[in-house]
Amino acid sequence: MGRVLSTVVRAFWAMLPAYVPNNAAVLAGGGRPIDGGRTWKHKRLLGDGKTWRGTVVGTACGLALALGLNRCNRRVATALDVSLPRFGRSALSLSAGAMAGDMVASFYKRRSGRERGAPVPGLDQLDFVVGALSLTALVSPNWFRRVFRPDVLVVVLVLTPLLHFGTNFAAYVLEFKNEPY
Ligand code: CTP
Ligand code: MG
Repeated sequence: MGRVLSTVVRAFWAMLPAYVPNNAAVLAGGGRPIDGGRTWKHKRLLGDGKTWRGTVVGTACGLALALGLNRCNRRVATALDVSLPRFGRSALSLSAGAMAGDMVASFYKRRSGRERGAPVPGLDQLDFVVGALSLTALVSPNWFRRVFRPDVLVVVLVLTPLLHFGTNFAAYVLEFKNEPY
């Protein structure tokens, strides 16, 4: 496989456990909000869009996917003729970090007076990436350096917003989401 394409495949593979949690949360969301309705300076801490169920199911789905990818690592790597990373602790840091990044963004949105679902272009597309990468760099620094080389990082930062638009638009068309972003 060509160098560019193999970089794209490796970036996508490494980030899949971080891509799935937020989408799974959209499907699983509902129930008790994490902030329990609490407010700070008359504004919700996180809002009704961050629920226990969505967060737990989302993180579990990312984790399960990482373990599934580990199982078919060799077969896919051989078939595509690329080397693909295996997930260790990163399985959890990528999925939990993605959920955490999204939550920090909601915290910021509430502080700045935005209602649930209000778009913040840029932040919406990258909050979970920054969360996943930061937590992984913290928890598995060696794995992070080995997998997220500069070329892979560039692909992640370009590819993720595109994928994000695509999946969210699909979720909106299928009426799982109220806004197409
Ligand atoms: N969701 C959840 N728990 C999370 C993240 C998401 O339950 N930790 C579910 C909620 O049902 C949420 C939906 O997924 O409404 C979409 O997620 P997101 O776009 O992140 O939330 P918003 O509703 O847009 O709220 P916010 O303005 O806080 O981003
Ligand atoms: Mg939203």
